[in-house]
Amino acid sequence: MFRRDFLRFSAISATALLATGCKPEEGFAFDGLMGSQSRESEERGALPIPPLAEYTKTEGKKSFDLEVRAAEKNFFGSKMTKTFGVNGDFLGPTIKVNRGDKVWFNVKNSLSEKTTIHWHGLHVDGKNDGGPHQVIPVGESWKTDFEIDQRACTAWYHPHQMDRTGYQVYMGIAGFFLIDDEESKNLPHEYGVDDIPLVIQDRRFSQDGEFRYISSMHDRMMGMAGDVFLVNGAIHPTFEPKNERVRLRVLNGSNSRIYTLGFDNKQEFDVVASDGGILERPTKMKKILVSPGERVEIVVKFSKNSALNLIDYMSETSLMKIETKDLATSKELPEKLAQPFSITPSKNEKLRVFDLSMGRGVALINNKQMSISRIDEEVEIGTSEIWRIRNNQSMMMRMAHPFHIHGCSFEILKREGRPIYAFEKGAKDTVLVASGEVVDVRVIFHKRADKENPYMYHCHNLEHEDLGMMGQFTVT
Ligand code: C2O
Ligand code: CU
Ligand code: CU
Repeated sequence: MFRRDFLRFSAISATALLATGCKPEEGFAFDGLMGSQSRESEERGALPIPPLAEYTKTEGKKSFDLEVRAAEKNFFGSKMTKTFGVNGDFLGPTIKVNRGDKVWFNVKNSLSEKTTIHWHGLHVDGKNDGGPHQVIPVGESWKTDFEIDQRACTAWYHPHQMDRTGYQVYMGIAGFFLIDDEESKNLPHEYGVDDIPLVIQDRRFSQDGEFRYISSMHDRMMGMAGDVFLVNGAIHPTFEPKNERVRLRVLNGSNSRIYTLGFDNKQEFDVVASDGGILERPTKMKKILVSPGERVEIVVKFSKNSALNLIDYMSETSLMKIETKDLATSKELPEKLAQPFSITPSKNEKLRVFDLSMGRGVALINNKQMSISRIDEEVEIGTSEIWRIRNNQSMMMRMAHPFHIHGCSFEILKREGRPIYAFEKGAKDTVLVASGEVVDVRVIFHKRADKENPYMYHCHNLEHEDLGMMGQFTVT
């Protein structure tokens, strides 16, 4: 069965596609032959919803216990696949908190290798960030506590172990971190009912059912084209909405694959939030481009007794089936969803330039490979700056890079080469920079990171990150 699937997919990954033969807008405008291509014979049951993480209240703090461990999971047939998971066999529970909450995490590492847990999208001090400096040795626990001090958003968590991030995420360590506030009630917000997290990933399996991570330098540089797609850890599941309007919180949790998502009936939906929060107003769209690490929230209005597919235009695949019967009516979206996000520019804003490039077996920022003992930039707390990210195309290696910055939300000001789409407005922490493009973002940091516990900026193509396309900065 996987053989057949494999034949249908091109060997080139979407990341490479976006950078080589095909311009993003072409990929973006592509109208697939979908419908006919959904995997009719391969329904494998209902869409799993990650459970909400349980917590206890101690001293006014919500305290969560997470255990990262090795496990096994049955993805298809009778085969078992070796996996990693958090409090389970693959992926992790959804952490759901409110703005203003004080939270406390106890993260136990039961793997047989070192790991970390990074809160991607959270505004927390460097020492709580879970980056490569907050290593959790085998058998030990990492305790961290902080206050949720940012607007409602869909964030997530994943490991950030030096040189091992790609592998550990591939094995299954990732989960949602949802923050709510008053404004999030303007959107459907009943978790698992009309507020649905969707983490989209691609994987390759070997004949014996194991994940087949990186096998060549080509994979590392050009991205791996996994031929099996997982939504919340399930292959081509079916989602049966109960309500007319459903909020889908989409996370591209793939290591390197870029998706252009839409529905095979070409229906419109409202884009309502990006990485770091709810947009001021909903925008109608039919397709969204989501690169690794990015989140996009959409609200879809379904009709009764219908069948459709959530599709990826890039790979021409149905990722998930949707089947409706009766639907409870839901209220319309308000015209204004949230306060707009924008950063007031400081006087004489500093401009920093980040040149992304690839060489033989290395991925560089400003011609340097990541070094955990070098601080690359020093930023002043509370002052806005312009960060200019340039993807220097070389004839040899044309790749798109999703650039991510820790500890903040930024605003995309302009991009030479492509417009800024509606789903890239608002508060962002990851932005796709395709080959030859230059993107300016305005960034401001309100939390601290000293040189013992600096923040990272890096390409969220996790193989590129592990190849060195990452740098460290302090905020003081
Ligand atoms: Cu999602 Cu530095 O990572
Ligand atoms: Cu991050
Ligand atoms: Cu990259």
